[in-house]
Amino acid sequence: MDASDAILRTAEHYSKQWGAELGFGSFVKANPEAARVMPSRQLPWDLLFDRIRTTANLQVTRVYDAACGFGDVLNSLSNPDMPRFLHYVGADIHGSLNTIVRPPRATFVQADICAPLVGDHGPFDFIICRAAIHHTRDPRATYRVLAAQLATGGTLAITAYAKKAPMREAVDEELRRRVVPLTNDEAFAVANQFTSLGRDLQALPGTIVISKDLPFLGIKAGSYKVQEFLYKYFLKCWYNVAFSEEHCDLVNFDWYHPPYAFRFDAGNLREWAEDDGLCITREASTEAQHYLEAFRP
Ligand SMILES: C[S@@+](CC[C@H](N)C(=O)[O-])C[C@H]1O[C@@H](n2cnc3c(N)ncnc32)[C@H](O)[C@@H]1O
Repeated sequence: MDASDAILRTAEHYSKQWGAELGFGSFVKANPEAARVMPSRQLPWDLLFDRIRTTANLQVTRVYDAACGFGDVLNSLSNPDMPRFLHYVGADIHGSLNTIVRPPRATFVQADICAPLVGDHGPFDFIICRAAIHHTRDPRATYRVLAAQLATGGTLAITAYAKKAPMREAVDEELRRRVVPLTNDEAFAVANQFTSLGRDLQALPGTIVISKDLPFLGIKAGSYKVQEFLYKYFLKCWYNVAFSEEHCDLVNFDWYHPPYAFRFDAGNLREWAEDDGLCITREASTEAQHYLEAFRP
């Protein structure tokens, strides 16, 4: 698949994923407790959002949400109210931006974040690129483009997919190789098989006990539920009872279908920031994603 085909397919994928028909944004707003399982809720985004809100209640603060998805970041920044001096611009390539509710001083543009934002928007005091840089063709180059749009003293915060155990990486690669070429509807139907498998495995009683660390295999000693063990080390098959069947499918669709879904070590992200002259202020990792926050001195 060439680069222009990949970007069209990425846009098409997320137009469905964030479209009104699946209503994921409304689900997340209406079910904040259920949404706590999302990787974005397990990394220190709230600390950054509090800082942005505090600053933006005192002085003009320009925020660029690069690959803003269904507007979840804006929702956090503008809740319970839009800070007085916050100027927010969200960019994404999908075609469902019109479904996002816009408070005052919030703008959305349909644009590719791999190129500098066109128009009179930057430089920015905060740039956020949450769970998206890995979906671009050359994430390292994308980071450089984002960093170049920071004001002096400005903060760039990203999360990127983390590398998994070797068996899980191998299976992901092969299954993604098969799912990526499918149409949206075909891939969404296939995603349901992962949901179904996840649900059946979660229903199994008992535990798997691993008596010692197996570093070559990337497996840690411990006691695991069956689905948890397989999910962590062998195959993503997401299921959560607090999500509807369709929204479980959406999570599996999100993993297997976008054309690019690179995974990284935390050190890769650190190198990008340092090579671009930024100072790292916060790092955090879960098994799913790495978080890196850095500012331009
Ligand atoms: C998993 S979603 C994350 C959305 C949002 N940042 C969040 O955390 O809720 C990934 C987003 O990246 C967007 N995306 C992927 N490649 C892009 C590109 N080259 N330019 C702009 N947006 C892109 C997709 O359309 C999708 O909305």
